[in-house]
Amino acid sequence: MCGLGGIRIKGGIPLEGEVRIQGSKNAALPVMAAALLNRGTTVLKGCPRIADVLLMEEVLKSLGAGTSWQGDTLEIWARNISCCQVEKKLGERMRSSIVLLGSLLGRCKEAVLPFPGGCVIGSRPIDLHLKALRELGGEFVETEEGLLYGRTRGLKGAEISFPRPSVGATQNAVLGAVCAQGTTVIRGGSREPEVTWLCRFLNQAGGKIGGIGTSCLTIQGVPRLQDTVFTIPADRIAAGTYVCASAITRGKGILLEPPIKEMGALLGAYEKIGGQYAYNSGKLFLCSQRAYRPVRWMETGVYPGFPTDLQSVFLAVLTRAWGWSQIKENIFEDRFKVVPQLRKMGAQIHLEGQTARIQGGRLSGNIVRAEELRGGAALVVAGLGAQGETYVEDREFIERGYEDISRDLNCLGARTEKD
Ligand code: EPZ
Repeated sequence: MCGLGGIRIKGGIPLEGEVRIQGSKNAALPVMAAALLNRGTTVLKGCPRIADVLLMEEVLKSLGAGTSWQGDTLEIWARNISCCQVEKKLGERMRSSIVLLGSLLGRCKEAVLPFPGGCVIGSRPIDLHLKALRELGGEFVETEEGLLYGRTRGLKGAEISFPRPSVGATQNAVLGAVCAQGTTVIRGGSREPEVTWLCRFLNQAGGKIGGIGTSCLTIQGVPRLQDTVFTIPADRIAAGTYVCASAITRGKGILLEPPIKEMGALLGAYEKIGGQYAYNSGKLFLCSQRAYRPVRWMETGVYPGFPTDLQSVFLAVLTRAWGWSQIKENIFEDRFKVVPQLRKMGAQIHLEGQTARIQGGRLSGNIVRAEELRGGAALVVAGLGAQGETYVEDREFIERGYEDISRDLNCLGARTEKD
């Protein structure tokens, strides 16, 4: 991706003000894929207008679906799905298009997708996706053009046990099972909210899923999904990003309608560094004047553990703590990619395998580059806590998951601008 613009941040301003939390990227994408299983109209309210959602919309249209927006409401009608092949140029731009595999097999009994491939944070294999869908009756080969070709005579209920958790593979298994013939039991499934919300959507659209919120799901196949109007939940990672923005500036801030029940691990870490918060009737009040304590040890984990997607952002906060901290990354093999850019701002971070040791101190504004979504957000947060001005290049990486991080931070009193 060539640099199409950046974000300029004026550091050193304690945040306050209030911001409404956008819809969740990682809840919206699998629900959009699930819309293929309804030959009618699916209405998604509170859908974030972010690059990955717009890309998924393009993919659905390329398969024959119709879509339209009214404000933040996205309507998808999938009566005529005329194609089961995700175009290479679209699929390669968004690895999460792999979540279409289960719903395309369920709808068309066939699917052709580019292999999602790795990204800067890791190799991103899909072995668990294919294992689950094979158990449901899917067959997969690699075509001469290097595409993933899947087909089935008809998906049938099965017992699926995941040897290790995978959010996307669990979602694909659910999407393959919800309209399969017979009953499926999924054991060792991921319990992330984005799996739970997908199941809630599917049940609202006529699916029959039990055990929602646990790692053991029982799914009774139904012939097809029905029309429904569903509200996309607030984005727990965007909300956590803004808690970190308040923390690094030692400011305050109010988050409106955050997914508070899904923020336990982040808010626990926020309290550990000295942050104080209160939640009342949809408002999360933050007080970060004392949010400068280091954290001797923390690690990312599957839900309800500390989310890997907030690791880089929290790392940025710890570069300003009064003392040394340690974070261990347990989910992705290469998720400290942002460290060299943070070092350009004066951060003192030592990497040893999957553990980062951070010596807190001062940050100075600099020109830095986003290389992936959450690392880019971490650089913006670091800019808020740095002395002077920071310019984060290649903001399109950040715009894959944040509707408008500059707008949102400015609602909290920051002084940022896009160019
Ligand atoms: C989802 O990715 C999210 N993406 C990620 O958010 C998030 O970091 C991740 O879950 C973990 O919570 C979306 O929802 C679109 P996984 P996913 O399968 O499903 C390994 C963001 O910034 N694995 O749970 O791809 C994998 O390599 C993005 O919004 C296999 O080994 O994550 C990783 O080490 C980044 N085989 C671990 O499991 C497989 O078949 C967890 O991956 C699949 C995954």
